Amino acid sequence: MAIEKPISQACVRNQGPILEVLKNHMKTPGNVVEIGCGTGQHAVHFARHLPHLYWQATDQASWLKGANIWIEEANLSNLPPALCLDVTLSHWPVLDADYVFSANVLHYMPKAQGTGYFKGISEMLVSCGSLILYGPFNQQGYTSEGNARLDSWLKTDIHRDAGLWELSEVLELTREHGLAAEKDIAMPANNNCLIFRKS
Ligand SMILES: C[S@@+](CC[C@H](N)C(=O)[O-])C[C@H]1O[C@@H](n2cnc3c(N)ncnc32)[C@H](O)[C@@H]1O
Repeated sequence: MAIEKPISQACVRNQGPILEVLKNHMKTPGNVVEIGCGTGQHAVHFARHLPHLYWQATDQASWLKGANIWIEEANLSNLPPALCLDVTLSHWPVLDADYVFSANVLHYMPKAQGTGYFKGISEMLVSCGSLILYGPFNQQGYTSEGNARLDSWLKTDIHRDAGLWELSEVLELTREHGLAAEKDIAMPANNNCLIFRKS
């Protein structure tokens, strides 16, 4: 059966503002590992506009066929096919990342999986490498009604232990895994880009 090319309207809306952040932060050439690439749209957009980066998209097995339709069509020399990486598994593909990018993934996982996520990211990053996390975060509670609705939907439809994280919880867990917070950039629609450096 043919797989349809997946489309995320959220990616269409947010890829421009995220690209501006990445242009400022990812000036030095290097390897990027994207965790939870979803449809693959972000990978194509960012690899196309940041040709000094080698962009390795990854996701759970069930997302790879769809993402690879986008990646094959784009035919970019800095964008290889997406690889399988499930952050709940103890063995991650061996990849050295100067940068890790992950958008809208943390709140889709049960909270308990956050430890493995940040541990794996920290191990994958080279010394002084950066993590760029994009998504909605609570700041002593929801920052908008839309984020409150998203949280309720995640807990009902995805997993009862999934949902938005308090920024302070993210900062504590990243610190425990040697990732020092560098920047918190407010993004449209009550999202943020958080940038960390492996210390
Ligand atoms: C809402 S989608 C975001 C996709 C894309 N990054 C974006 O911003 O459009 C959530 C993503 O989290 C990924 N994800 C959830 N649990 C995961 C896990 N255990 N390991 C790897 N990725 C996971 C899903 O596979 C999915 O691609």
